[in-house]
Amino acid sequence: MSDRLELTTAGGRCLIDFGAARPVLGERLAVRPASQPVLILSDSNVQRLHGAAFADWPCLVLPPGEAGKTLAQAERVYRALYAAGHDKRSLLVGIGGGAVTDLCGFVAATYQRGLGCGLVPTTLLAQVDAAIGGKNAVNLDLAKNLVGTIRQPDFIIIDPAFNRTLPLAELQSGLGELVKYAILAGGGLASRVEAFAASLATAARTQHSAQPWAALADEPLATRLAALVREAAGYKAAVVMADEHEQGRRRLLNLGHTLGHALELSEGLSHGLAVIKGLYFSLRYSSHLGFLPPEAAARLESSLAATGVDASYSTPADTICDLVGHDKKKAGHSLDFVFVAGPGQVFSQAVELDRLRAFLRSDRP
Ligand SMILES: NC(=O)c1ccc[n+]([C@@H]2O[C@H](COP(=O)([O-])OP(=O)(O)OC[C@H]3O[C@@H](n4cnc5c(N)ncnc54)[C@H](O)[C@@H]3O)[C@@H](O)[C@H]2O)c1
Repeated sequence: MSDRLELTTAGGRCLIDFGAARPVLGERLAVRPASQPVLILSDSNVQRLHGAAFADWPCLVLPPGEAGKTLAQAERVYRALYAAGHDKRSLLVGIGGGAVTDLCGFVAATYQRGLGCGLVPTTLLAQVDAAIGGKNAVNLDLAKNLVGTIRQPDFIIIDPAFNRTLPLAELQSGLGELVKYAILAGGGLASRVEAFAASLATAARTQHSAQPWAALADEPLATRLAALVREAAGYKAAVVMADEHEQGRRRLLNLGHTLGHALELSEGLSHGLAVIKGLYFSLRYSSHLGFLPPEAAARLESSLAATGVDASYSTPADTICDLVGHDKKKAGHSLDFVFVAGPGQVFSQAVELDRLRAFLRSDRP
């Protein structure tokens, strides 16, 4: 049984279904006439683990991770679409993590100036964040996400059952993203994520010490996680509806991304793990400037700690400043930094690069 959300913007309308992906996708594709063919994009890990469920449709398999999110891979897909005679009436469906959904959205937005697009996010991070909101991109060797568009997909199907095959680091990344949404939204979501993080940490300590995240196979925890995914995805959809083109409120979703993007490049961390370290940093910097009371900082930090990822990083202050100096959010010698004053109290403020550098020099998590 699927539950549905509608994300409507000036640019389009996207239906987001929560439920078992195979039957929902099957229903959507069964009604398409032969003149509106489908091509599935996936990566080799997702294909190996879940490909049998989607074997009814032609599929092009990308390399996993950031290697699948390049102009060269986009060109490979354009050529495959051309060779198979696809046109504007076709539908491209990306089944995978954020790398696949980003590439799929980019190709669907650009091939013949736009064809249909559906996304089935298979990582927790992509279910909560990457697949929602229409942003897509490919990386160049110069920087990540340098070329892209904002265009809403026609539909998204969010099925938390995919999370059961995720490796530890991908579950941690996704939980970090959930904590980010808890900090942004505050209220009930913040307390439910905090309680979930605490239960998970307890389950990991007491029942599954050898393989802590096996705790998620416990039905009650998995059910609670599915509800949190639904809630966080709904929060993001509401922000995107209010500010599709990141003129205001949507910018706050970059919480944790200033340091996070730098660490992705300098330490080779995945997006999700780098953002967790960036979130810890945002809490420390907000406390340092007196925006965030110590007790609130400690509670938010303990939710982050339940991911099992610590706050440490080794990149020197100057390297970080060089990297964030090239960041898209930079303006002149300052950049927009997203600060936290408490759960649900997040704001963006310009920070001079030299002041950030001075704090980074003293910051030893
Ligand atoms: N467009 C946006 O708004 C937005 C937002 C956040 C992140 N992103 C992008 O998303 C990407 C990160 O997404 P991600 O964390 O999903 O990474 P990813 O897509 O690289 O997937 C991580 C790994 O998990 C594997 N995997 C995927 N689903 C699996 C499953 N069900 N079981 C086992 N393994 C599985 C993948 O093969 C890959 O090795 C980055 O490129 C980032 O820039 C985009």
